[in-house]
Formats: sequence, C-alpha cells, structure tokens
Amino acid sequence: MSAPLAPHLAQLLHAHDDLDRRLERHQELLAAGDFRGACLEFHEFRAALLAHIDAEEQQVLPRYRTLRSWPSGGQPELFDAEHRQIRRMVAQLEVALATLGDGPLSPRTIVRLIEDEHPLKGVLEHHAAREERFLYPALHVLRPAAASN
Ligand SMILES: [Fe+2]
Ligand SMILES: [Fe+2]
Repeated sequence: MSAPLAPHLAQLLHAHDDLDRRLERHQELLAAGDFRGACLEFHEFRAALLAHIDAEEQQVLPRYRTLRSWPSGGQPELFDAEHRQIRRMVAQLEVALATLGDGPLSPRTIVRLIEDEHPLKGVLEHHAAREERFLYPALHVLRPAAASN
C-alpha cells in the first residue's frame, strides 16, 4: 500500500487557500498595470487549479464514492459538475487574456477583466465551501481551525 492517506489529503485541502491567494495576486498585478506579470500569475494559478482538480478526481472522489451514502448537497456528481464548470470558466478566461496581446491595457479593460473573473471567484468559493463541508470531513480531513473546534 502507498503512503498514509490523511496527510496527502490535508495538503489538497490546504491548497484551497493557496489557489485563492494566486488569483488575488493576479488581480492585484492587473490593477497595478503589470499585465505581463498578471498573465504569468494567471497561468500559474490555472496550472495549480487544474492539478488540484485532477488530484481530487483521481485520489479523493473515488474514495468518497465508496461511502455509497451522501448528504444532500454532498453528492459526488455535484463535485464532478462543479469541476467541469471551473475547467470551462478558467479556459475561457485564459483565452480572454490571450486575445489582449502584450498590453498595456486601458483602465476600462482592466476593470472589465476583473469583473469577468468575478463569477469564477464565486464558483471557486462555493465549491471549496462544499468540499470543506462534505467531501474532506467525510474522509476525516479537516482544516486546523475546524479540527480544533
Ligand atoms: Fe474540487
Ligand atoms: Fe478542492
């Protein structure tokens, strides 16, 4: 058998905060007028996000499915559907950034980009909350703050 499961799953859970910070840094660079830096940060955010989703689909959700009984709002197909939605949204944003060339961007374009990214932030927040309420606790992985309550 492989290495102990829980520490590895805890790393995946903690990645939610890291992903949030990466997207925030991307938007801070956009707001500061550093379009090249913002694009690099978005590429890294996207790569980390997709790797995170792949890891959940390969290592977490298969174990969760073995439980065979899930609470309302915690059904495996909901996580699958949100992963598909997130992949689609992040790909669309990647294309939107690519169409802007090398910049610099007008203030209006910067505001529009940040507004266009807002739905993804909302979906990610909602998705992480669902995973942290149902998926990870069912596999006995909690955030440190939640674990100490
Ligand atoms: Fe996920
Ligand atoms: Fe996740």
